[in-house]
Amino acid sequence: MSDTPTDYTGPKRVLSGMQPTGQLHLGNYLGALKNWVSLQEDGSWDCFYCVVDLHAITMPHDPKTLPDAVRSAAAAYIASGVDPEKSAIFAQSAVPAHAELAWIFNCVARLGWLERMTQFKDKAGKDKERASVGLFTYPVLQAADILVYKATHVPVGEDQKQHLELCRDIAARFNRDYGNGEAIFPVTEPVIQGPGARIMSLRDGTAKMSKSDVSDNSRINLDDDADKIARKIKKAKSDPDALPSEEAGLEGRPEAANLVGIYAALTGKSKAEVLAEFGGDGFGRFKPALAEVAVEYLAPISDEYRRLISDTTEIDRILAKGAERANAVAAPVVAEAKKVIGFWGQ
Ligand code: TRP
Repeated sequence: MSDTPTDYTGPKRVLSGMQPTGQLHLGNYLGALKNWVSLQEDGSWDCFYCVVDLHAITMPHDPKTLPDAVRSAAAAYIASGVDPEKSAIFAQSAVPAHAELAWIFNCVARLGWLERMTQFKDKAGKDKERASVGLFTYPVLQAADILVYKATHVPVGEDQKQHLELCRDIAARFNRDYGNGEAIFPVTEPVIQGPGARIMSLRDGTAKMSKSDVSDNSRINLDDDADKIARKIKKAKSDPDALPSEEAGLEGRPEAANLVGIYAALTGKSKAEVLAEFGGDGFGRFKPALAEVAVEYLAPISDEYRRLISDTTEIDRILAKGAERANAVAAPVVAEAKKVIGFWGQ
């Protein structure tokens, strides 16, 4: 039996995705997109970045706004530096192999594995009898997203670790049951995102920055212009004390820790370096400095986002080309899976 990543000899591939639900923001940029871009720029990976619209319909959704939501997410990827010449950018629903492999994996994954998934419990809430079956098997579709490209590495946030574990279990089980001694699928490694991974709300340093927060001032959206970015930073919740000169001094000061973390993530410095520079300063000095770096890094992204979204022709062309590239890789993998499963005509 060979089902460990070291036995797998295929190319190094990266896949990741985000749901097309609402405007992406600074938390998505620092927690994910920035990492996607570094993997792309590293040059040793074949990168696939999709907008997971099949996942979006596991919860109630509006069919009228979904196509634009997909375009908006794709525009945010590109504006953040994902380069359609280097990486495939596409809508999950445009590559039928995802759904086809998901069905096969539904018959590989065990009910008990899915019953442990905490995201389902959170999303289904109290009345889980009314949740869609799709919401329950969401992580199986996620495993198909990854393995249909035989992706070896997946950049994700902490909150997706459990889904990645499930993907590894599915790959190992499939290899064992149908691989005839070969690792058909890699046992994918998560690439857990770095220090920028947890960006908190600008109004509450204990809550994650989120697109569903009612207060728009709680987040910096990737389409906010320079004035708005600066205004939101200046309005951000802070505390009356000066910044400490060492990281330990941020303990128990969630808003201060978050703002220092944002400064560090944007500039590529460590928090210690930021505090060495600003320790002893109050927020009256730190916030304008933070607003300046935020505008410097984010205003070009938001300008590019707004340019892309103003005319859908370019984005639609990119999505079509990305789907073509993705299909070319995914279709033979599904064919291989269907063959070893024993389907007729394969
Ligand atoms: N579940 C992921 C999230 O909520 C989104 C996702 C779907 C994904 N398919 C994926 C992430 C495949 C990485 C790889 O963020």
